[in-house]
Amino acid sequence: MKIVLLDEIDSTNRFCERMLDEGEDLIVCARRQTEGMGTNGRSFLSDEGGVYLSALTFYDDLPAGDAFRIMAHAALSVCRTAEDFGLSPRIKWPNDVLVGGKKLAGILIRNVIGGGKIRASIVGIGLNVCNDLSALGGIALSLSDAAGKTIPTDEARDRLIGHLKEETDFRDYLSRAAFLGEEILVCEGEKRYSAIARRILPDGRLEIDRAGAVRALSSAEIRIVLSNFNH
Ligand code: BTN
Repeated sequence: MKIVLLDEIDSTNRFCERMLDEGEDLIVCARRQTEGMGTNGRSFLSDEGGVYLSALTFYDDLPAGDAFRIMAHAALSVCRTAEDFGLSPRIKWPNDVLVGGKKLAGILIRNVIGGGKIRASIVGIGLNVCNDLSALGGIALSLSDAAGKTIPTDEARDRLIGHLKEETDFRDYLSRAAFLGEEILVCEGEKRYSAIARRILPDGRLEIDRAGAVRALSSAEIRIVLSNFNH
């Protein structure tokens, strides 16, 4: 696997988009991004001290329905990196990695779909290692803050790359899922309601129980706004 290490880039995800025609798997990491991209068109704070990385992977025969596997693998790789530094992260479905209820990383995935298959994926991960997050108002924390000691960015980067190369199992994801059996606040379109998170199905949908009505919904349909956990 080709690894590209850069000091600065607009966005590692954009770098991968520009490399799509090359057809070669690669991981690109930068010390900072000038136009880091977050979910829903938001920008992503990308100052020095974080790991900003994107993995471009091509697939021969991956059904579009397997998109959750890519999300789960990314979240699990972040968890394993945090565990290497003695932390016990939890995953807020589908792929938010939390420590003490705060976000340790942001994950942004773009899949290139053709003929019902995922032809390529760009998995972008921004991992907080020892960067200043004070501008984010307490919703995020870094590996260093959580571990109570300064963790070198390069060490965290190398661990994360190592874990991205590992195989993962759905059970590894499930064992870190944060809120199963608990009451959560769900956002579905314009509606917000509370429900019990029952289980995560192998296709990645979350099964919820809303006052006795059980439904399985994808992360494109619902989002967990809040939950009563503080893992
Ligand atoms: C989120 O909003 O939580 C997702 C943020 C994803 C940020 C990462 S940093 C590396 C990669 N390059 C980007 O421009 N974004 C992703």
